[in-house]
Amino acid sequence: MKPGLMYDNPFEYVWSLIVDVTIFMIKSVYFFFETVILTCLPIRFRKLKDVSGQTVLITGGGGGVGKFLALNFARLKCKVVIWDVNRDAITATSDALKDEGYECFAYVVDISDKLQVYEVAKKVRREIGKVDILINNAGIVTCRPLLELPDKAIEATYGVNILSHYWTSKAFLPEMISDKCGHIVTVSSVTGLLGTYACTDYSATKFACVGFHESLFSELRAHGHDYIGMTLVCPYYINSGMFAGVKPRLLPMLEPKYVADKIVESVLKNEVNCTLPATVRLFLPLKCLLPAKTCWELMMRIMKGPQSMALYKGRGKAQTG
Ligand SMILES: NC(=O)c1ccc[n+]([C@@H]2O[C@H](COP(=O)([O-])OP(=O)(O)OC[C@H]3O[C@@H](n4cnc5c(N)ncnc54)[C@H](O)[C@@H]3O)[C@@H](O)[C@H]2O)c1
Repeated sequence: MKPGLMYDNPFEYVWSLIVDVTIFMIKSVYFFFETVILTCLPIRFRKLKDVSGQTVLITGGGGGVGKFLALNFARLKCKVVIWDVNRDAITATSDALKDEGYECFAYVVDISDKLQVYEVAKKVRREIGKVDILINNAGIVTCRPLLELPDKAIEATYGVNILSHYWTSKAFLPEMISDKCGHIVTVSSVTGLLGTYACTDYSATKFACVGFHESLFSELRAHGHDYIGMTLVCPYYINSGMFAGVKPRLLPMLEPKYVADKIVESVLKNEVNCTLPATVRLFLPLKCLLPAKTCWELMMRIMKGPQSMALYKGRGKAQTG
């Protein structure tokens, strides 16, 4: 990284600021029109990343979204590696790939266990090779108000939903850098943009995912590793069973296949942000612009957020897979 804040005199300081602001404004106009054009352009006219032959590793590959991600990447001729703590879920995904004639390299891993992650990452490197696309997708939720949340559940949520991202990224990023090719997908949530009832742990870990993605993005760009793609995914509720029982008032839950299709599309387009549905992004600025009391009225009266979350049943004892 070039030292950019060393000035010999005040004139040099002011001049460099003027130059940088001018370049920033010119580039901003360019980026604005580029975004408008790319958003309007049908996907078949866009230059997409070629991922054929690449190895993609999906954590939580046995889950609702994970299974469709595995299928989608296999159809794009990728080598698919799935990690999951749930053996039955892994088998279901492996079988789905085999039914279509694809191979699936499956590993039972508890991603909240740092040593297991490092150990199995070495095994993957030995048995399959370098990982090109890492999808940090696994997640768990308990869905209880703070004072009813067992300490163990809080720790487990942090272990799976955010700490694991450090272990997997540290395991696979060095080779992406040495190979000058890679992509890290961070699956957060709309609850990582907007605090949610009965989710003090879940929502906080999803906010942390946003911070993780943005900070790592800035580190990689500042150090010149622009060839590594980074995509942050923030989906609204998904009909995978994770939030079984919850009845959102305004929008229906998304289907896991739709979410997986959009994530793959984002990777191929090399997009940095993927909020699902995309219209949610239009409402996010309201959180900063409206008075806090108005935001609460919107949440409680219009969206009925807490009321719909209170209907949560979950999958029973097994919250995952
Ligand atoms: N379901 C939703 O409404 C929703 C909404 C927004 C974001 N998300 C996020 O999307 C991602 C995928 O969610 P989903 O709906 O497919 O959930 P899911 O529960 O269907 O799948 C999650 C998978 O992660 C696995 N997993 C859990 N703990 C693990 C561990 N310690 N080690 C390895 N694997 C583990 C589970 O066995 C399961 O197969 C998650 O990160 C979730 O937080 C979900």
